[in-house]
Amino acid sequence: MKVLVVGSGGREHALCWAFAKSPLCAELFCAPGNPGIEAHATCLPVKADDVSGLVSLTIEKKIDFVMVGPEVPLALGLADAIRAAGVPCFGPSKAAAQLEASKGFMKDLCKKYDIPTAAYERFSDPEKAKAYVQAQGAPIVIKADGLAAGKGVTIAQTVEEAIAAIDESMTGGAFGDAGAEIVVEEFMTGEEASFFALCDGETALYFASAQDHKAVYDGDKGPNTGGMGAYSPAPVIDEAMRDRVMKEIILPTAEGMKKEGMPFTGIFFAGLMITKTGPRLIEYNVRFGDPETQAMLPRLKSDLLSALFATAKGMLGGIELHWHDYAALCVVMAANGYPGTYEKGSVIKGLEKAAKVEDGIVFHAGTARNEAGDITAAGGRVLGVTGWAPTITEAQKKAYETMDKINWPQGFCRRDIGWRAVAREKK
Ligand code: AMP
Ligand code: GLY
Repeated sequence: MKVLVVGSGGREHALCWAFAKSPLCAELFCAPGNPGIEAHATCLPVKADDVSGLVSLTIEKKIDFVMVGPEVPLALGLADAIRAAGVPCFGPSKAAAQLEASKGFMKDLCKKYDIPTAAYERFSDPEKAKAYVQAQGAPIVIKADGLAAGKGVTIAQTVEEAIAAIDESMTGGAFGDAGAEIVVEEFMTGEEASFFALCDGETALYFASAQDHKAVYDGDKGPNTGGMGAYSPAPVIDEAMRDRVMKEIILPTAEGMKKEGMPFTGIFFAGLMITKTGPRLIEYNVRFGDPETQAMLPRLKSDLLSALFATAKGMLGGIELHWHDYAALCVVMAANGYPGTYEKGSVIKGLEKAAKVEDGIVFHAGTARNEAGDITAAGGRVLGVTGWAPTITEAQKKAYETMDKINWPQGFCRRDIGWRAVAREKK
């Protein structure tokens, strides 16, 4: 079958790497892709948010299956447009993508279908939001309703901080239209984990768990990023917890979406807080995580392409997933200055040496090729280096062993990815 992957990050590199191994995959395309993806797929220069361009490409190349990586095209209705052209597509409709694109939508669904999450109120009037915050007290959480590239959330330790966040989002335009409406919610405590489950509109199937590190510096310090590293599986998601999350959160969501007339096709990426009383939903993403995917896919023994194709066709029922009995850990290498301003164009060396490390792999994210053919930095998060081994402690070693072959003085990484799980393994 001819397959098209949409996107250009480390997640899409990992997806293409896994698809390329599939006996089902006759030809693989990626739009727009990156230089790392070129090793597995033909990259075509159509942007991930160019819905009509991607539909034309699908028809022109006679694509049999489209896999959408990022959330923005899903929120724009790419999956609807591909399906309308008669081609199976992995990813939710525009209506179902609201689970990620509108925090208010997600919270209202949880309320209606009794899915455990933080108590909340939605506001489009800043004065009413402030009055609510005054009444509730701090700590309290302020969230822009729409997509804000992971930056729309403020954990306010004081009422003053919460009020400042309301002003910034609702009147200051910090997140554009995405912040005109907000959700104010209860602050939850516990251990966070990411939970992934496939859904074909009817049934849901557990995929895998992971934990990521959002803060830019060691010790989880500094501003939040898209993710500086991740590992899989998440030790807090044992079998009993997995069953609870499926029963209390994932299956009611699949059922609720169906009842609302917007059945969900694709992957639920649930951000969970494992609290003393059980798992509670922080947020939904409607796509694979980045860099979680780079830490999950090396563990997958089953054929990813057939599982995702079956999901898109509404035939998840017969699918079973098998995993290697090892952990994987991905460390992100970012350009100096990220998540603030950073330079582009510096040359990255040592990639061939890194490619020789067994049980390690380098996924490209924000890379480009210069005229001389060198790989250069072209984004904030530039590489994702994954290692795998029987334990998270050893997988961490493998990832850093691979990372240390790379010679790129203009980049940096955290040296403590996986610290919580490593400490747990020491016990
Ligand atoms: P979100 O974009 O909704 O995942 O929020 C970003 C991060 O903020 C999460 O990963 C959590 O660490 C934190 N967070 C969000 N909502 C809450 C909450 N209600 N209580 C505690 N922490 C939260
Ligand atoms: N790593 C978080 C995300 O993909 O949104």
